[in-house]
Amino acid sequence: MNIKLWLFIFTLILVWHSPAQAKDISWDKVGTQKITMFYPGVVSWEFLNSEDHSLGGKNIRKGKKNCTDCHVSKDTGIDLRVEEIVTGKLQMKKSQKPFEPEPISGKNGFLDLNIQAAYDDEYVYLRLQWPSQGLSWNNPKLAEDGLPDRVSIQLNHLSDKEEYLSRYGCFRTCHNDLNSMPNSPSKEQVKKNVYYGTIKRDDVRLYAFYTRTDGWAAMKADKELQGFLKDSGLIDLWKIEFKGKEPSAEDGWILEDRRKDDKEDIKADGNWENGKYVVRITRKLQTGDPRDIQLKEGDVIFTGIAVHDEKTNHRKHYVSFPMSIGLGAEGDIKAERIK
Ligand code: HEC
Repeated sequence: MNIKLWLFIFTLILVWHSPAQAKDISWDKVGTQKITMFYPGVVSWEFLNSEDHSLGGKNIRKGKKNCTDCHVSKDTGIDLRVEEIVTGKLQMKKSQKPFEPEPISGKNGFLDLNIQAAYDDEYVYLRLQWPSQGLSWNNPKLAEDGLPDRVSIQLNHLSDKEEYLSRYGCFRTCHNDLNSMPNSPSKEQVKKNVYYGTIKRDDVRLYAFYTRTDGWAAMKADKELQGFLKDSGLIDLWKIEFKGKEPSAEDGWILEDRRKDDKEDIKADGNWENGKYVVRITRKLQTGDPRDIQLKEGDVIFTGIAVHDEKTNHRKHYVSFPMSIGLGAEGDIKAERIK
């Protein structure tokens, strides 16, 4: 055999074995789901459980009814007064506190995001698109200032023990005392706390409500936290941000804190064109990392999505209601098998 033929066979073998990438998928053959995201202001887990949320609070405290049972109707779509939240007009019913103490002028209350999902024997793939001015794509300096346009996705399995823990999506991790929320503790207070002091941090980031007994400083014992890790308490967190024309992916997790994974298991690419961002994500179904959720065909996983856009940070994002993704199974979003 001549050398050219050897080279051809060698290249063929390489291509055959190189991992799949979401950018190589024929996405026009995969179904698209439109998700209406909304601007929540300072809505937190504490608000959702409180009397300020009237009937909603009562039902969530009992672990009954999902957000969408009350806030989405087949005929009229989402019923939420977020246009009044964004302008700072809407106040909470009982406490009379504003839903948005720092209104952003000209911002929309809603944002439509398109999602597609697929999987094969080895990988799961997501493709997300949302309309945007592409500010940080066109100006990388925004990312240096902590204001990149970005999308974050929380994913978890349904807990066998306490199903309702899994039903409220990202809202389980959003609290009144987080950084930039109304009851956020001072940097000095945070530094003095044993946990945050040890890891040299001065801000409180997302945490799952079941890891505390009463607020950010009351973390449960390590043994209990380990228990949540075993019983589907872990929330996986994938983030893709645009620092100029280079999208960068970050693999993280949320349980007692929001942290970056030691091992980077997600790959992403994307761009901004014709007034919209496109992001494609690839992850192995099984990563072997206890701080990742492990996936297989037939699984139904729960997810919530957040988009930071137009120079915003911390809580000032659009969020989705909790949704399910079925991997070849029923779900609000159906991941299609492609090979
Ligand atoms: C049992 C029904 C019910 C459920 C379940 C429910 N809500 Fe509500 N929600 C309400 C009602 C009623 C109000 C209006 C409260 C008032 O009178 O001001 C409300 C108000 C709100 C508001 C303030 C904006 C507005 O339109 O008044 C937000 C935001 C909100 N809910 C989000 C959620 C989220 C997120 C969930 C799920 C985690 C949820 N709700 C679950 C009934 C519900």
